[in-house]
Amino acid sequence: MLQEKTKKIYKAKVVRVEKVSSSSYLIETELPYKVEIKAGQFISVYCDGLTLRRPFSVYSHNNNIIGILFKERGKGTNYIKSLKTGDEIDITGPLGNGFNIKNKKSLLIGAGIGVAAMAFLKSELDKNGIENLFVCGFLNKHEIPNCINIDKIYTDDGSVGEKGSVLNYLDQMINNYKPEIIYTCGPYIVLKTIAETAQQYGLEVQVAMEKVMACGIGVCRGCVIDIKKNGEIVNTTVCKDGPVFLGSEVVWQ
Ligand SMILES: Cc1cc2nc3c(=O)[nH]c(=O)nc-3n(C[C@H](O)[C@H](O)[C@H](O)COP(=O)(O)OP(=O)(O)OC[C@H]3O[C@@H](n4cnc5c(N)ncnc54)[C@H](O)[C@@H]3O)c2cc1C
Ligand code: FES
Repeated sequence: MLQEKTKKIYKAKVVRVEKVSSSSYLIETELPYKVEIKAGQFISVYCDGLTLRRPFSVYSHNNNIIGILFKERGKGTNYIKSLKTGDEIDITGPLGNGFNIKNKKSLLIGAGIGVAAMAFLKSELDKNGIENLFVCGFLNKHEIPNCINIDKIYTDDGSVGEKGSVLNYLDQMINNYKPEIIYTCGPYIVLKTIAETAQQYGLEVQVAMEKVMACGIGVCRGCVIDIKKNGEIVNTTVCKDGPVFLGSEVVWQ
């Protein structure tokens, strides 16, 4: 029988690694214990010989199986991609705060690989019977992971779904769907634009931020961003205090 465990470092077993788009992979790993994970939290992976662990949003979580959806970028992701079923993988997590799920009509906006955190959030909202619309923007149809159900797709080149950046359709989406809250994950400029637009409509927006991380546990302060709290600007770690923040609290550059 699996038991809950508070310790955050796991030797997990790789269940499968699959290419799911032209540039992204899904890896599922089985932890030796059952853990509680909130959508928006992340894990960090030790990648053979690399000093710094690599952080990834949790994409799926069923009992003790955790999935991450990742884009190949450098040595770390190349290593993870090369793992085979049955291999051992060293994981720390779950880390960070996760989304603060509200029982409100929700618009979920993912861009690029930010779709991973959004897909997990979508499954949590569905589980809780919370009405939602899940939209995502990609460069082209080849970038879309084949493992995800997305309500509406936007591609820069128009190869599938609506043509153009998801940002071009923000006003239309808000006016047509009339969400009470927005959750988003993606590149900085996407988060910034969505936060500014949501503010114009008086809507709460929760943004999952990304910063290059070293320790991943709030010690090195290598991932700080400026956050407005009670009229003051505070240096805040993305890894421990985030990665999810209210869009209205972030001091956007
Ligand atoms: C909280 C958090 C959640 C994340 N979730 C995911 C996820 O779900 N899926 C996913 O694919 N990635 C995610 N990332 C990014 C992921 O951590 C990096 O892609 C990974 O660390 C790259 O490691 P690497 O060794 O392969 O590449 P590196 O050798 O570290 O870098 C290779 C190249 O990629 C660039 N690069 C590295 N990180 C990023 C980045 N975040 N954005 C843009 N360019 C980058 C570097 O500048 C360099 O040019 C997340 C990051 C954070 C902080
Ligand atoms: S990565 Fe060290 S404090 Fe965030």
